[in-house]
Amino acid sequence: MLRITSIEEYHSEYKKSIDNPEQFWAEKAEQFYWQKKWDEVLRWNFDEPKIEWFVGGKLNITENCLDRHLPTRANQIAYYWEPNNPNEKAIELTYQQLYEQVCKFSNVLKNNDAKKGDRICIYMPMIPELTIAVLACARIGAIHSVVFGGFSATSLSGRIQDCDCNIVITSDGGYRGAKDIPMKQVVDEALELCPSVKKVVVVERTKTPITMLEGRDIFWSNEMQNASVNCPAEIMDAEDFLFILYTSGSTGKPKGVVHTCGGYMVYTHYSFQNVFQYNEGEVYWCTADIGWITGHSYIVYAPLLAGATSVIFEGVPTYPNAGRFWEIIDKYNVNIFYTAPTAIRALEAAGVDFVKPYKLNSLRILGSVGEPINEEAWNWYNEHIGKYNCPIVDTWWQTETGGILISPLAGITKTKPCFATLPLPGIQPVLVDEKGNEIKGNGVEGNLCVKFPWPSIIRTTYGDNERCKQNYFATYPNLYFTGDGCKRDDDGYYRITGRVDDVMNISGHRIGTAEVESAINMHIDIVESAVVGYQHDIKGQGIYAYVICVNKQKDVEMLRKEILAEVTKTIGAIAKPDKIQIVSGLPKTRSGKIMRRILRKVAEGELHNLGDISTLLDPSVVEEIKLGVIK
Ligand code: WT7
Repeated sequence: MLRITSIEEYHSEYKKSIDNPEQFWAEKAEQFYWQKKWDEVLRWNFDEPKIEWFVGGKLNITENCLDRHLPTRANQIAYYWEPNNPNEKAIELTYQQLYEQVCKFSNVLKNNDAKKGDRICIYMPMIPELTIAVLACARIGAIHSVVFGGFSATSLSGRIQDCDCNIVITSDGGYRGAKDIPMKQVVDEALELCPSVKKVVVVERTKTPITMLEGRDIFWSNEMQNASVNCPAEIMDAEDFLFILYTSGSTGKPKGVVHTCGGYMVYTHYSFQNVFQYNEGEVYWCTADIGWITGHSYIVYAPLLAGATSVIFEGVPTYPNAGRFWEIIDKYNVNIFYTAPTAIRALEAAGVDFVKPYKLNSLRILGSVGEPINEEAWNWYNEHIGKYNCPIVDTWWQTETGGILISPLAGITKTKPCFATLPLPGIQPVLVDEKGNEIKGNGVEGNLCVKFPWPSIIRTTYGDNERCKQNYFATYPNLYFTGDGCKRDDDGYYRITGRVDDVMNISGHRIGTAEVESAINMHIDIVESAVVGYQHDIKGQGIYAYVICVNKQKDVEMLRKEILAEVTKTIGAIAKPDKIQIVSGLPKTRSGKIMRRILRKVAEGELHNLGDISTLLDPSVVEEIKLGVIK
């Protein structure tokens, strides 16, 4: 049985998944098309770590996303594409058309020397070609590394270098609201530092003037003209890499999270079916960008595996006005809508007048993802969008988990505002204390870990398995550590309280404090900086930076602008600090460790309860910081 239909069935499926995980997941995997069946369901240890699912199985995920559906769904819409500008023509892609485009572009890649195992970087706006490019990589067995279009040239080159990409797929520019973003220009700048890249495929989207480097840069449309629609799928091992997706941690550079073909396919599909309770013929819309894991799993792969019809939206929620999401829901009769708390809060702030003109009566299920959803936003979503008639699924997961791990099953699990509720079958969450002791029972709080693998768990961090171990498997032996704090209430419901490490969550985007600090430190006048997150009404968290400036004469406003420019150049606009305070020193212990706890409290405006500061090398800096706090 694939889809759970009642809470009793959830409990019995959950039990089966714990009692016999191998049998449970083998049953879920059976329904797919495998070129060769697996020899063994699961082999694992969290120590190295080494985790393998469906060992020996052979498949190609695109045959399951596309070919498998053609006999029954050739003329069904796979994607409605809605452009940034509502006056531009929308595009529909049927399963047959998507299949043909993917095969053609697969041949374009092959004609340009792409081979199985190559890494291909995709840096594109939210246009249909992005999905086609992702699937074409998967079809020929190349490993895609999609980089979100908001990242800077420096970030892009770092990601290209880290996994030695030989091809980049991009577009001339991209539309986001009133902005026209020069993507090819960013690629050109990034590639000055990336000798491994031999070909750049360019989609023409904005027709903005660009330079094309002879021999390296080629146009998508030219290449597609003569490409054959016939492209047999590469035979992949279940554990061959499907993609790399870079994500921030608490230390160092972003790391390349690796997902593999078989397990990722089985789990993303299973979680999609059960969490969203997708019914045949419904229209589903996830507003994420494909540059993040939500877009990979729940715009590209899972909906196609389920044979669903989805909306892809190029633009932003507030363009041309804050009614755009609601207009799109009515236009396509969206049944299932999946978005982020930061968007909900921004649209709530814009006022209900933007909601009123729309019926929204096609909606059946609402989803939330990316950060804890606060009660006020939850209630607004429930009242004004769901009209008290749509279950809200607050889905907790991570880039590393590949799919949703803790969430209500829509219409089945009783919801509670702010609670991600219960683990999906196959997921064994545990809460632990600082020492790693399991905290049993209900009405407790601790650090969230998972004690048994599920099919789409991270396999490694690209090129550095030791880093994967240190980040996720070394904090507590034999547990996968999520980095999140969590409560389990008296009903056994889980409520995620936020990161317990130095990772911030800015508008649902994950950004490491260390990354922002090293970007700020690039500024010539800055000797040292410390960055913390603080509660922000719309973004969830904002970025607060404390900086030590050597040039005492420096104009404060000028310094601020230069720091913002430095961060935009090094990471991207999403990482710009909201507040910058110039300080003469940072609160450090005698061993030189910055006491972030104090900086966090000051940034939150809690100036009186700073706790014990007697271990500080120079407690007087705290007084100065308190006096200069930016409100
Ligand atoms: C971190 C993962 C996976 C989706 C996009 C973000 C936070 C995610 C929730 C939620 C509370 C959440 C966690 C997690 N987070 N969803 N429903 N409730 N917190 O993926 O960039 O890998 O970030 O986002 O802190 O660790 P990501």
